[in-house]
Amino acid sequence: MARVYLEDISRRFGSTIAIADITFEVPDGEFWVLVGPSGCGKSTILRTIAGLDNATSGSLFIGDRRVNQVPARERDVAMVFQNYALYPHMTVAENLAFGLRMRQAEPKTIRARVETVAQSLNIAHLLDRKPRQLSGGQQQRVALGRAIARQPQVFLLDEPLSNLDAQLRDDTRAELKQLHQRLGITTIYVTHDQVEAMTLADRIVVLHQGKIQQIADPQTMYAQPANQMVATFLGNPPMNILPVTYDGEGFQLAGRMIPCPERLRSSLSPGQRLNLGIRPEHIQIAADRPAHLVVEVAIVEPLGRETLLRTHSIAPEAALVNVQVAAEMRLKVGDRLPLFCTPERLVLFDPATGNNLNPA
Ligand SMILES: Nc1ncnc2c1ncn2[C@@H]1O[C@H](COP(=O)(O)OP(=O)(O)O)[C@@H](O)[C@H]1O
Ligand SMILES: [Mg+2]
Repeated sequence: MARVYLEDISRRFGSTIAIADITFEVPDGEFWVLVGPSGCGKSTILRTIAGLDNATSGSLFIGDRRVNQVPARERDVAMVFQNYALYPHMTVAENLAFGLRMRQAEPKTIRARVETVAQSLNIAHLLDRKPRQLSGGQQQRVALGRAIARQPQVFLLDEPLSNLDAQLRDDTRAELKQLHQRLGITTIYVTHDQVEAMTLADRIVVLHQGKIQQIADPQTMYAQPANQMVATFLGNPPMNILPVTYDGEGFQLAGRMIPCPERLRSSLSPGQRLNLGIRPEHIQIAADRPAHLVVEVAIVEPLGRETLLRTHSIAPEAALVNVQVAAEMRLKVGDRLPLFCTPERLVLFDPATGNNLNPA
């Protein structure tokens, strides 16, 4: 096992800057997730670590060794792709054993490893089959198993669950997490899915247009996003972003006022324009509390455990507000609701840069 350290890694393709000044260190044994929208540079980073692509500039370390010039097969990393390729003429057992056999491991070691991996991925009953006799989900497990069986220093996974249907994706995600808890292999996992990032990661790296936006553990990132991009990327439905003006007491929006908590006051001056961030679960129907905002329901989406309301504030400004309410509430389009925003949960963004005014 080994740490992975990227220092100022950049990669250009002609005039396209795929990734710029990427610096982070994954400590030995941790599970990190790189997440961001399509095209943000996730695969380029992973391929650079694997040695399938070369950085234009910067240094890459695996353990204490600078590996920029080390060929892929000597880096002792295993990579699994979304479009995995199994050897069609080999059985599942032979596919699992392939990496070990290439490394001239003892037949006894190979047998034991294959058995353990097959059991932990629930494919032990498939060992004698050929890949064409497997479902897509089973094939993907074999691809994961083949990488795991090698017990590499570093495990690199590029959207490995994207081809699976929803139920199987959730199950395999949980198995991956358990597997990591047991084996402790340093893992870097790429996904565009924020749920996978939140659920799997020791630490998340959010990328946008080739640049790192924030590195943090899931809870910190969810509560204290570094900027509006992170705030609206993590969480479904995303954080509400409301344009407001600070009046010395609170935040003016649509003729009402959301009070400013003490901890945020020192950084503000009256008249200042801001973007106020608040997550849907931190807005409630005011009931007997003061209404910070009055909205009109535009769309009602029952989610089972709760109901998502897409609403807009009542004129003059029509800010869009997502609210989550108890499933028992029967609301309909056009209903007017007084809302209460939990003041401790407010996050402030600079409208010019989108940056959090009080970063974690
Ligand atoms: N071989 C290549 N040639 C030219 N441009 C590339 C190449 N590989 C990636 N890119 C560009 O680099 C950027 C990042 O790509 P990629 O790392 O694949 O993103 P992601 O995996 O996050 O979807 C994109 O703009 C993509 O078009
Ligand atoms: Mg990709």
